Amino acid sequence: MGQNLIFTNDVDEALERLTTSGGHNMTVWIADVNTARLMMPAPAHLITIPDGDGNKTLATVTSVWDEMERMGVTRHSLVINLGGGMVTDLGGFTAATFKRGVRFINVPTTLLGAVDAAVGGKTGFNYHDLKNEIGAFAPASDVVISTCFFDTLPLQEMKSGFAEVLKHAMLSDRGEFLRLLDHDFNAPINHDDLLERLRRSVQVKADIVARDPEEQGERKALNLGHTVGHAFESLAMLRGKPVPHGYAVAWGLVTEAVLSHLLLKFPGEDVHLLGNFVRDNYRDFPFTCDDYDELLGLMRHDKKSRAGEITCTLLAAIGDYRIDKTVTPDDITAALDILRDLLGV
Ligand code: GLY
Repeated sequence: MGQNLIFTNDVDEALERLTTSGGHNMTVWIADVNTARLMMPAPAHLITIPDGDGNKTLATVTSVWDEMERMGVTRHSLVINLGGGMVTDLGGFTAATFKRGVRFINVPTTLLGAVDAAVGGKTGFNYHDLKNEIGAFAPASDVVISTCFFDTLPLQEMKSGFAEVLKHAMLSDRGEFLRLLDHDFNAPINHDDLLERLRRSVQVKADIVARDPEEQGERKALNLGHTVGHAFESLAMLRGKPVPHGYAVAWGLVTEAVLSHLLLKFPGEDVHLLGNFVRDNYRDFPFTCDDYDELLGLMRHDKKSRAGEITCTLLAAIGDYRIDKTVTPDDITAALDILRDLLGV
C-alpha cells in the first residue's frame, strides 16, 4: 500500500505541486463546515458536509456522491479531503467508491487525524450505531501532514491525538517514549519540533501498515491500548457523557501496560512513568469498580474479540509487541484496580 507521506508546514506549496501535476480534469475538495471556513476564498468545487461523528453516516455518503455526480466528477478527477478523521474516513470512502475509484489526497487538520486516521487506508462510516461498520481499505495517494492547523486546536484535541503518538512510541522506541513524557501541553507549539515528532510517529504506523495493510496479523499491534480504551469510550458514550477518543486510549494504554506487566513482565518502571503522565494530563477518569462488569461485557463484544474471548496487543518491553494475547476477566479486573490507583481516583 504505497502512500506518499509529505511532512511540511507549507501546505499551500505542497498542494499546489500535487494539484498541478497528474493531469486530472477537476479538483474537488471535501471539508466539514468548520474546515471549509479555512479555505478563503472557497474553491470552485467544494463539497461541505456536517461535522461530528454523528454525521459519519450513509446519508452523508450519499449526499457527497450526489454532489460529485452533479459536479461531473470522473475517474480522472482528484479529491482532497480536508479535515479530521471523520472527513478523511468518509471522504476517502466516497472517493474510493465513486465510479469505482477517484484518486484522493488527505490533508488532516487535527493531531489525531494526522497520526492515525489519515494514514493507512482505512475508510468508512458508521452504520446501525456501530462505528466504522461499513468501509474499505483504500489508501489516499498522498497525505499532507502539517502542524499549521494545530495553533487553534483545543487543548483537549491535542491531548487526544497525543495518546496515539504515545502509542506509536510504545510500539517502537523507548527513547522517544521518554521524550514524549516530558511534553508540556501548556507550552506554545514549536512547529518544527512537533513536525519532527509527527514524522517519527507516523512512520511507525506506515511501516507496520506496509507489512500488513489489511490487518491480517501485525497491524493489530496498532490496537495497543484500544481493547480497553474502546470499552471506556463506548461506556461513556452509552451514558451520554462521551470522552475524547484519545483520553480513552490513554487510560487504555495504562491498563494494557499493567496487563503487560502482569502477563509479560513489561517493566514496572515504565508502567509508573506512563501512569504519572496520564494522571497529570488525562484527568476526570469517569469509572469506578461498579462499572467493571459493563466494561468487561463491552470488551467481549469488541470487533477484535473472538468467541467472547478478550484479546489485546501487549508489550514485553517498549518496542516488543505481542498481538492476540488472551486476557481473562480476573486479569482485567486486577489491571483496572491498579489503573485507578495510578490515576489516584
Ligand atoms: N487505527 C489503527 C489502524 O489504522 O490500524
